[in-house]
Amino acid sequence: MNALILGSGGREHTLAWKIAQSEKTEKVFIAPGNAGTPSVGINADLNPLDFNQVKEFVLSNNINMVVVGPEDPLVKGIVDFFRNDNQLKDVCIVGPQKDGAILEGSKDFAKEFMFKNNIPTAKYKTFTLNQFDDAVEFMNQLNPPYVLKADGLAAGKGVLIIDDIDEAKASLKEMLNGKFGESSAKVVIEEFLKGIEVSYFVLTDGKNFVLLPEAKDYKRIGEGDTGLNTGGMGAVSPVPFANETFTNKVIERIVKPTINGFAADNIDYRGFVFIGLMNVNGDPYVIEYNVRMGDPETEVVIPRIKSDFTEALYSLKDQSLDKVEFEIDNRTAATVMLVSGGYPESYEKGHTISNIESITDSVLFHAGTKSDNNNVITNGGRVIAITSFGDSINEAVGKSLKNAEAINFNKKYYRTDIGKDLL
Ligand code: AMP
Ligand code: GLY
Repeated sequence: MNALILGSGGREHTLAWKIAQSEKTEKVFIAPGNAGTPSVGINADLNPLDFNQVKEFVLSNNINMVVVGPEDPLVKGIVDFFRNDNQLKDVCIVGPQKDGAILEGSKDFAKEFMFKNNIPTAKYKTFTLNQFDDAVEFMNQLNPPYVLKADGLAAGKGVLIIDDIDEAKASLKEMLNGKFGESSAKVVIEEFLKGIEVSYFVLTDGKNFVLLPEAKDYKRIGEGDTGLNTGGMGAVSPVPFANETFTNKVIERIVKPTINGFAADNIDYRGFVFIGLMNVNGDPYVIEYNVRMGDPETEVVIPRIKSDFTEALYSLKDQSLDKVEFEIDNRTAATVMLVSGGYPESYEKGHTISNIESITDSVLFHAGTKSDNNNVITNGGRVIAITSFGDSINEAVGKSLKNAEAINFNKKYYRTDIGKDLL
């Protein structure tokens, strides 16, 4: 079969790498891809948001399966577009339609879905600008810090956590007045949950589901998880505190009610569900749903899957995921992200990356890279994810850090404390 992966980051490189390993896979295309993806497939110069362009490519290259990497095309309805098109309806497309993608596209919808299905999550209320006084009253009832979330997509920047109530009120006003454009026309205010975060990943065909390995990511730019939020600076899987007892709670209290909730609302959800949650004294509470895999979580979750992933993904088409075998590697996978100095604020692009070929004991998943003549150059904030295996977090992270030092480009930066909080 021929597969097309939409996206250009480390997540998409990893998905393409894994899908290419299957005997069932003939060709893998990555659109638009990066400088690393040609080592596992063929880059296609497509815009994932131009659905007609994607359609033309799918038809002319006999694509049997499309995997949508990022959330944007899902929220904008690429899966609905495929299902409603006579020429595309038999293509397996991995990801939910709009009615499922709204779980990530609207925090208010996600909270309502959780409450309706008795899924543990922080207490909340949603407000618009003309309800500002009610919002203030609600805030007065909560204890600090105050959690304010733009309802819509805001590229990971839409959540503010503020200690001081006056500052929180001022920020709320700014948000409702358009700080994040339309995305913050509605704001979810919720109770702060104190605990440690972990993410679970579910693959579902709408009837059956499998739990993929869990992961912890490191979102802040600085050591000790300080400073500005980023897309993610590293990740580790498995997560030691996410033991069998905890995982069973996640399955019974969160995963099953989520899948049943889709059925109850007639949402035909075939794709990934990424559940970000907080472990509060041993009990899981959902912080957010995403309708795609995480980045850089994918770079540790997918390498731990030993079995055929192409077969698993293709089974979503006829809802036969229950017939697919899954085998998971027990070892620890860790990834360390090399980023451009200055990220997540302004940074430079176009620096030559050297020593990539010398790395033998890690897998490099490219994120923001581009080919330039015979060189690989930086082309984004997050540049390369360095994934390694080990028998412990220390061993896996140690290999990635050694290689993070070896690979070079001007203004390279990375965190050296990935996984340390778990030891
Ligand atoms: P989100 O975009 O919803 O993932 O939120 C970004 C980050 O804010 C999360 O990864 C958490 O670290 C934090 N966060 C969100 N909601 C809460 C909450 N209710 N309590 C504590 N931290 C939160
Ligand atoms: N690493 C967080 C995310 O992909 O949303």
